[in-house]
Amino acid sequence: MWKIPLLEIRFISSKVSAQTSAVDTDVVAVYQDSTKKAATPGGQYAALVGRLRNNGFFTAAHGLAQYLRFGGKNTASDCMFVGLGQANDVSIEKIRAVGGHAWTKLKSNKSKSAAFDIDSLFSARGVPSHLAQIDLAVAFIEGLLFGAYEYQTHKTKQDDSHDSGPAKLILMTKNSGLRLQLEKEVPLIKAAAEALNITRDWSNEPSNYGTPEFFSAKAKKLASEYGLKCTILNERDAARQKMGLFLAVGQGAEREGRVVVLEYMPKGKIRSKKKTVALVGKGITFDSGGISIKPSLRMEEMKHDMTGAATVLGAILLAARLRVPNRVVAVMAFTENMPDGKAIQPGNVVKARSGKTVEIINTDAEGRLILADVLDYAHDFKPDAIIDVATLTGAVSVALGKYCCAVLGNDDSLIDAIRRVGNENGERIWQLPLYDDYFDDLKSDTADMKNSANDAHGGTIRGAIFLKQFIRKGMPWAHLDIAATSSNLGHIPYYPKRGASGAYVRTLAKLIADF
Ligand code: BES
Ligand code: MN
Ligand code: ZN
Repeated sequence: MWKIPLLEIRFISSKVSAQTSAVDTDVVAVYQDSTKKAATPGGQYAALVGRLRNNGFFTAAHGLAQYLRFGGKNTASDCMFVGLGQANDVSIEKIRAVGGHAWTKLKSNKSKSAAFDIDSLFSARGVPSHLAQIDLAVAFIEGLLFGAYEYQTHKTKQDDSHDSGPAKLILMTKNSGLRLQLEKEVPLIKAAAEALNITRDWSNEPSNYGTPEFFSAKAKKLASEYGLKCTILNERDAARQKMGLFLAVGQGAEREGRVVVLEYMPKGKIRSKKKTVALVGKGITFDSGGISIKPSLRMEEMKHDMTGAATVLGAILLAARLRVPNRVVAVMAFTENMPDGKAIQPGNVVKARSGKTVEIINTDAEGRLILADVLDYAHDFKPDAIIDVATLTGAVSVALGKYCCAVLGNDDSLIDAIRRVGNENGERIWQLPLYDDYFDDLKSDTADMKNSANDAHGGTIRGAIFLKQFIRKGMPWAHLDIAATSSNLGHIPYYPKRGASGAYVRTLAKLIADF
């Protein structure tokens, strides 16, 4: 796994000194003034920024980074100024983005160690007063650390020392109160980065390695590291549980499926008050479409079709590290969707764990089938709410593009809470309607319902209305369709350029923290 850079917090009482920090690069954030020119920050670089301002060399526009090479003996050899844009326009998410840019730039300039002048984030006039210093600082560090990820598992030349970005990051502040707050917050940011990176590693794993058995073994190991209870169901156990739909999807696969359950129980706190949140994840380790086979163009992306499961895994790990006061159950359904002599065929009728029958008219609408059974199973843990996460429909990218994921469900206050927490963490979530009328599109002549319709209208809603048939009366439930946001979110500077994003891990963990 990707190693998180060392973070030291230094308290600098007099002038910022690269010598004492022993780094190759000093990093200073610079705001724009109202004339859209670089505003001079305090500290030893004030005069230099002033010159860059006057000759127009560096405007401090948001996201812009300027590297200067000195090679001096008494300073760091390099300095990097990162632009924050206008002070009155700044937001937490903009700062997080700048942190991501800063990481990318440090890496491309082969920095091995950097010192960041935290106080430069508050150096300008006009920063909105509702933004607390600690929140700005945390956002910048989040951007740096979340941006520091590379998928290296299958590279034979593992290169920690050269192109991977700084292995050491020093945070400097003259403000002792802020330093105390940072000492508390930095371990939490590292925990988030670690959870994100595990989710990303899982999602990026090619399906010849990332089999259901592989993920269940990894989950078991992580469970013991994080103090979670782990239960693994193989296909025989699933059969005992009458998970007919889950087993039907895996029927054409050589590799056996697994249902993995992780449980986190808060310790010490007032137990009577705690709530239980069940997280449910789609874990199709490869989605060929089955007999309703997919076209070959970009089929390789279907190794990411287990990202729902990887996301709920990251969320429960982070929740455990944050010691959230609520109980969390994560149910992950891993199997492959393959065409074969034994594979399910369009028109087959299969009985779900809940007892309902489904006519499978399209074997490529497999995610909803496996989720139906594990959603039903999740009720056994007596949760106060169920949230499922799935790369369920290509239609979600038609509806919303890649700038947000979709949420649908039966409980508006749960949905509002998810959207609010998402917003606070720079993870956008948009609600789509879930009128019961949409179920008319799934009426079957043969069984209780079919798993798809014959045209492609309202595909994301149809997927969700199918899932809703397996949610029992009175159970608050929300469904996140992350098919468009699970990978390739390179437009967000602290997410990897390509491959798994890790989006929504933080939102889910933080939602559970104050559920
Ligand atoms: N795993 C896919 C959805 C998907 C598509 C994820 C593109 C990521 C990128 C899902 O199993 C699927 O195939 N859905 C079908 C549903 C249809 C057959 C009703 C789809 O979206 O075409
Ligand atoms: Mn599919
Ligand atoms: Zn799928």
